[in-house]
Amino acid sequence: MTPAKPRIAILISGSGTNLQAFIDRAAAGELEAEIALVLANRPDAYGLERARQAGIPTAVIRHGDFESREAFDRAVAERLDEAGVELVVLAGFMRILSPWFVDRYRGRLLNIHPALLPRFPGLDTHQRVLEAGDEHHGSTVHFVTEELDAGPCILQGRLPVSPSTSADELMARVQQVEHRIYPRAVNWVATGRARFVDERAVIDGGPPDGPVIEDFE
Ligand code: GRF
Repeated sequence: MTPAKPRIAILISGSGTNLQAFIDRAAAGELEAEIALVLANRPDAYGLERARQAGIPTAVIRHGDFESREAFDRAVAERLDEAGVELVVLAGFMRILSPWFVDRYRGRLLNIHPALLPRFPGLDTHQRVLEAGDEHHGSTVHFVTEELDAGPCILQGRLPVSPSTSADELMARVQQVEHRIYPRAVNWVATGRARFVDERAVIDGGPPDGPVIEDFE
């Protein structure tokens, strides 16, 4: 008997193009996890519609309904527990999570950030890359720790940057990369190929220190 795939929740706040990439991989039989729940902190997140169309259960928990960050996070965790979620995938979830939540899901909480971390944590990464004159840009899947955009990196998709590129163009190219690397990295964690050990990401067959880097055009 094939062992059951781990149940994941995908947390979103907006359009959910990364979520769509997961939905498409799952439909193609190429996702080593079951999307048990899509949860948004905003009822107007378009990703909810994508989930509904794919027949995936959805939940909305509005952060404004809670007195504190942690109270919101506890409500989210309760909903994740109800859905039997083992692994949490942040995909454009625009909330900073409390230390309580991060600790509860340590090693089971993933994020994707549109830059080659540790370069450019935070916002406006595409513009900042152009201003810095970097030759490469891309996206990083990482385990989430207390420090924003600073957890151990699992997989990076790297792109060459030409000085004539615009920030919008870069954003579009980075998104394409994200849709390729995020489901792959989640597969690695779901199958145990990538693990969180002693505050580091250990990837079987990967470099001893640092993420696997995949080059894109
Ligand atoms: C992605 O660019 C991701 O890197 C960032 O938020 C964006 C989400 O986009 N964390 P989408 O909602 O998946 O289209």
